Amino acid sequence: KITPVILCGGSGTRLWPRSRAVKPKPFLPLVGDVTLFEQGIARASDRAIFEAPMVVTGTRHLDHVESQLGEAPDAQILVEPSARNTAAAIALAALRMEPDAVMLVCPSDHHIGDPSSFVAAAQAAGRLAREGWLVAFGITATAPETGFGYVKRGEAISDDGFRVDRFVEKPNLERAMEFLAEGSYAWNGGIFAMRAGDFLKELGTHRPAILEGVAQAVAGGVVDGQRFHPDAAIFNAVESDSIDYAVMEKTERAAVVPANMAWSDIGNWHALWEAREKDEAGNSVIGEAELVGCRNVLVESDGPKVSVVGLEGVMVVVDGDDVLVTSVPGVQKVGKLQGAVNQ
Ligand code: GDD
Ligand code: MG
Repeated sequence: KITPVILCGGSGTRLWPRSRAVKPKPFLPLVGDVTLFEQGIARASDRAIFEAPMVVTGTRHLDHVESQLGEAPDAQILVEPSARNTAAAIALAALRMEPDAVMLVCPSDHHIGDPSSFVAAAQAAGRLAREGWLVAFGITATAPETGFGYVKRGEAISDDGFRVDRFVEKPNLERAMEFLAEGSYAWNGGIFAMRAGDFLKELGTHRPAILEGVAQAVAGGVVDGQRFHPDAAIFNAVESDSIDYAVMEKTERAAVVPANMAWSDIGNWHALWEAREKDEAGNSVIGEAELVGCRNVLVESDGPKVSVVGLEGVMVVVDGDDVLVTSVPGVQKVGKLQGAVNQ
């Protein structure tokens, strides 16, 4: 079986004013009526395939996590005293499992429109992981995104997937455009399958200090019911780095499974509009609104009725005292607004 390891760390400032430090993106019902975190738990909840999940999160989000466990009331919760990025978060989970256990690392702030394709890809990745591969999920690239990692496919290993020829985390725009034109690069979906022991071995080879620090923090940790608290002083001193830079770019054992599952990282208001259900004119409305002569408009209001006339490709979000109005190109800069920065 496969153990889901659900990472809950991020903030999502580009979805301000809906996503806020006190209640960030994973814990909001952004697409449909359950939250992204609840959807993440639910899609890996078939206990014929998956073990109970481990959730890695910070003290700040503990209440949200524990109130949204839904189909996994028996989840283990690994509590980080501070965020040390994904290499340390995944090492923490790996050190709490048997070395032979296959872990499926899943971000909690993505949307997957086709959960059964996700499960099929997870099973393929699980088979490769059992042969010692560190497996990434490759998403068909459709734009030269610079906020993602890229995985270049090498030779086939089996029907399940391919060797990774090259892994490039967050290229600049020029390189991202080359990758898109080249055709054998996929986006890294941020979802990984590997045996716990294999991950720790690779981390020890490429970033021994991170492994050493997390191992000491785990050795000095305490169990409190379903929660596990690593030693705070030791964990806080661990170097901050992502699995992508620390391990995936460097390992010789990287593999990729193609995963076409209507994936979106919901990185901004336009991505959210794309993932949502829309009417014939492409408008998506949550809350009270009247739209006249509009196309591809997103309105979301938690109070006032919003009226929009004759606009195209505009997003209007009302949250308490804050109102955001943005164009499609503007969505990238929402995180730079004072309201998003000073929260
Ligand atoms: N528990 C915990 N602790 N979770 C964390 C931490 C941490 O310190 N840091 C990040 N996370 C979680 C985030 O909440 C998110 O769910 C996931 O790990 C990935 O972190 P991001 O910070 O969102 O990474 P990114 O978006 O810059 O890049 C990664 O994801 C892309 C796809 O969305 C990389 O894997 C890219 O290669 C990939 O394309
Ligand atoms: Mg992200």
